[in-house]
Amino acid sequence: MDKKWKTSIAGIIDGEAHIHGYEVTDLIDKVNFTDAIWLELKGELPTDKEKAMLDAILISTIDNGLGPPSVTNARNCASAGNPMQAAVAAGVLGIGEFHGGAIEECARLLQMGSTAEKLVEKVIGSGDRVPGYGHKVYTEDPRATQIFAKAKSLGFWGEYCKLAVEVEKVLEEKKGKKIPINVDGAIAAVISEMGFNYRLGKGFFIIGRVVGLVAHIFEEYIREKPFRRIPGEEIEYDGVRPRKLKP
Ligand SMILES: CC(C)(COP(=O)(O)OP(=O)(O)OC[C@H]1O[C@@H](n2cnc3c(N)ncnc32)[C@H](O)[C@@H]1OP(=O)(O)O)[C@@H](O)C(=O)NCCC(=O)NCCS
Repeated sequence: MDKKWKTSIAGIIDGEAHIHGYEVTDLIDKVNFTDAIWLELKGELPTDKEKAMLDAILISTIDNGLGPPSVTNARNCASAGNPMQAAVAAGVLGIGEFHGGAIEECARLLQMGSTAEKLVEKVIGSGDRVPGYGHKVYTEDPRATQIFAKAKSLGFWGEYCKLAVEVEKVLEEKKGKKIPINVDGAIAAVISEMGFNYRLGKGFFIIGRVVGLVAHIFEEYIREKPFRRIPGEEIEYDGVRPRKLKP
């Protein structure tokens, strides 16, 4: 009978778990984690170059210190007394269009087949920011630079990467200042080179960042006292002054 729940990714065949046709026990024996991630997402095992590129991408997303929302969300949630899975979920919810989540939209725009000029005009013309460009701290995002260097050395430097660089130039012309390509933008260009659908974009950041979140949450448990709060001297109330309700 035709079943309602179908998947072509993994299943139990003759009592053995298989992923895209390979026995999980065989994968445990013979491949590494990045091979398995590629297999899960693409359905085939990667070449050595594909594996090295995906490795670089995942490492670039693992951690960037305490500042970004994903990490502060996760540590705050842990600090309130929640278990690991809740704090990881809180951290993942801290990923959004302005932090880590720009890969998807940037890859979508790059994969649309537009020119840099039209792409930038369309986005900033509607009052939006070009996803994958700009950074709170960096004037040049060293992670983006390194990912592009890897892409060149591993043979993934193609039309999408060139378009991403062109977008940076056009954006600078239009805004009158450099808004550098960031790690999300570089990843968006390279996953497009590797034939990934843009809808997987956020997934790459999530996969890598969960590693960092687990480490931060663990550190919060063992190093900090429970119930972190923003120190009083950093909080200012600037609302309505005290007033009385009418009797
Ligand atoms: C990451 C980000 C929030 C950093 O912002 P920021 O450096 O604090 O920049 P500000 O919010 O102070 O904006 C300063 C100016 O640059 C512009 N700007 C910044 N990033 C821009 C972008 N990606 N596209 C177009 N304009 C951008 C702002 O519109 C603003 O312009 P204005 O002065 O004409 O109003 C911002 O660059 C952004 O939203 N980027 C897109 C999302 C993204 O790629 N996120 C992943 C970050 S790793």
